[in-house]
Amino acid sequence: MKTHIIGIGNQKGGVCKTTNAIHLAAALGERGRKCLVVDLDSNLGLTLSFDIPLTTVGTFHMLTRQEAVEDVIVTSESQQERASRPGEMITLPKNVHVIPASRRIENFEKEFASAAEEDGELKFISPIDTLGRPLAELSGKYDFIFLDTAPNAGTLTIAAYKAAEWFILSSTAEKLSVDALRRSMRDIIAAKNVNPSLRVLGAIMSQVDGRRKLQRTYVAKVGKDLEAAGGFGLFETVVPSRAVIGKASTLCLSLFDYDPPSSEVSTTNEVRDLYRNLAREVEERVDSKVTTSEDEANVVEQVVNG
Ligand SMILES: Nc1ncnc2c1ncn2[C@@H]1O[C@H](COP(=O)(O)OP(=O)(O)OP(=O)(O)O)[C@@H](O)[C@H]1O
Ligand SMILES: [Mg+2]
Repeated sequence: MKTHIIGIGNQKGGVCKTTNAIHLAAALGERGRKCLVVDLDSNLGLTLSFDIPLTTVGTFHMLTRQEAVEDVIVTSESQQERASRPGEMITLPKNVHVIPASRRIENFEKEFASAAEEDGELKFISPIDTLGRPLAELSGKYDFIFLDTAPNAGTLTIAAYKAAEWFILSSTAEKLSVDALRRSMRDIIAAKNVNPSLRVLGAIMSQVDGRRKLQRTYVAKVGKDLEAAGGFGLFETVVPSRAVIGKASTLCLSLFDYDPPSSEVSTTNEVRDLYRNLAREVEERVDSKVTTSEDEANVVEQVVNG
């Protein structure tokens, strides 16, 4: 089994990165693909989304080698109790596993430095190089590993740029999100110097209100930016703004595990179908040919100057 490692990013918060990571994994999981989603955000969004206790060992322990990677993976079989409802178990989507983040990741650099003082070998490793080895150990065990990154270009996001094969950019159709997406694209291009196999797999436009002309303009703008990059463009599937996503999220469930009241059945099915379509697009793209180095030179010119 080839393991595809895909970062999900945008240097702006609240632009649906975590929602897309969870629902893409859930849709792929439904198709029988084995998925792992890793919380690399010190805001702990993914971990909180499933109500996993912040005391659970996770990303920090994996990166500092205090725990073996297999021991920080939460699965539906882990019998992991919910943080806010002890006695109730967390619900993960079918075929989806999670590496949660604990509070110790909130102050990663400082915590890493103190862990390195205790562990002589760790002293010689840069924090941005800590993700490659544990992910390599999982190679062949998952079809997809999604890295849910923070809304900044901090250490853990850079670690993801170094370890991933692909990045999916997540954006809403708003100026600040689109501007931040361009910054992320520039960083990905720069990161190719240290990780030549890193490529943009596409951008997902989420929470879009297609009735608003300005929003349509921003969707088109992201499309143009990616087109200029010469590689993969926008994903054809655009996710509209749907309150049911937030509703499932307050219950700490993906929409694939949400049992909607009759008034929400059709919207729930609509959004599930959209993520199923996105999952198909992702599978097609990872299996198809990649951009040429000439295309990549074009990206640098267009994005840096544009
Ligand atoms: N298509 C959608 N329609 C309506 N609400 C949505 C949609 N997608 C996501 N949301 C909601 O938008 C909010 C932000 O989403 P999310 O947490 O996925 O963003 P993020 O980019 O991961 O943010 P952060 O950078 O802070 O981690 C959440 O409350 C989520 O439930
Ligand atoms: Mg998030």
